[in-house]
Formats: sequence, C-alpha cells, structure tokens
Amino acid sequence: MTRKPITTRLARGADADTIAAIYNEGINDGMATFETEPRTAAEIAALLAGKHDRYPTIVAERDGRIVGWASASPYRSRPAYAGVAEHSVYVARAARGSGVGRAALDALCRTYAERGFWKLVSRIFSENIASLVLHERCGFRVVGVYRRHAKLHGKWRDCVIVEKLIDGREPGL
Ligand SMILES: CC(C)(COP(=O)(O)OP(=O)(O)OC[C@H]1O[C@@H](n2cnc3c(N)ncnc32)[C@H](O)[C@@H]1OP(=O)(O)O)[C@@H](O)C(=O)NCCC(=O)NCCS
Repeated sequence: MTRKPITTRLARGADADTIAAIYNEGINDGMATFETEPRTAAEIAALLAGKHDRYPTIVAERDGRIVGWASASPYRSRPAYAGVAEHSVYVARAARGSGVGRAALDALCRTYAERGFWKLVSRIFSENIASLVLHERCGFRVVGVYRRHAKLHGKWRDCVIVEKLIDGREPGL
C-alpha cells in the first residue's frame, strides 16, 4: 500500500488537543517518559504559548491529520546553555513505524538550527528500541547511560543520553 506523504509545520494553539492525545498515548505506554499524569489540551495550549517562537513545536501531518509531534525546551537556565535544547518526539500509536517520527525529528533539528541552537539532547529509556533507532537514523550519538536514573511505576529505569550537534560545524570547533 502506498502511504500518503508526511508534511511538517510549526504547531499552533489549535493543535493542542491532538498533541495532548498523542502525548497521553505515549504516557500510557510507559516507554517514553517518567510522566504518569495525562495532559489536558489546555495545559498543552499554555505550554505552546509560553514557549513563543524560541522553542517551537513541530507537528507532522499525513492526509491533513496530525500524526506526530516533536518539541523542545531549555536544557538549563544558565545563559551559556542558551543554544542547547532538550527534545521529545511522540507519534500516534496507529502511525508508528511509518516514517512520522523521522520526519518530525528531522524537521525539529532544521528548525532549531535555523534559530541558532547548536545542540539537541534527550534521554531515552534503554528498552525503547524504536526511539534509539530513530535517533541514530536522525544523526544523534549516544553519550552514555544514566543507570537507575529514576523509578517509573515502581521500577528503576536506565536512560540513554543522546545528543546531536545541529549547527553544521565540526565537533570541537
Ligand atoms: C519512538 C517513536 C517516536 C518513533 O517514531 P516512528 O514514527 O515510529 O519511527 P519511524 O517510523 O520514523 O522510524 C525511524 C527509524 O526507526 C526504526 N524503527 C521504528 N520503530 C522501530 C522498532 N519498534 N524497532 C526497531 N526499529 C524501529 C525504523 O525502521 C526507522 O529506521 P529506518 O529508517 O532504518 O527504517 C514512536 O515509536 C513513538 O512515538 N513511541 C512512543 C513515544 C516515545 O517513545 N517517544 C520517544 C521518547 S524518547
């Protein structure tokens, strides 16, 4: 079966309910985040508004419907880290494994590079093979592993730290 093409764009306030629904699927799966409480559309709308144009969220659409998103937040508050952002990527269950995550994360990298960021970082549960493969395919490298980083539903989880230099310069220069 030929799939419809995936397009990406910056998220708008009106996308908040779909973004929340996709995030809540990821929270329920227990493979993506230490978050355990579902988000409401109002919370997501407030988050999008608070990030302004500096930390945009990307939505990926297929056939006119949002099927995934990627977003980022400040890594640390110190001014020296102003060009480093910490990101997340979530795809609707029904659309996983069909290139949506790749499209969203590649678009996030381009968008943040255009805004002058030099690095994206994230933490991935070591069991989350889909996310580890996605990040490797998008050019991220594994920095290391946080052992017993925190508990999710009473179980210790290890987290793989990944990073990508997105400004097109060689590492160390
Ligand atoms: C992780 C996630 C974002 C990946 O997005 P996706 O749209 O399913 O991934 P894509 O279809 O773009 O695939 C990207 C690459 O990963 C590979 N991949 C995807 N799912 C995989 C799986 N379950 N096992 C192995 N490889 C997988 C694909 O084959 C592809 O590699 P390729 O280009 O060599 O074929 C998605 O599965 C998801 O939303 N999971 C729940 C939330 C989550 O875990 N978010 C990440 C938090 S760190």
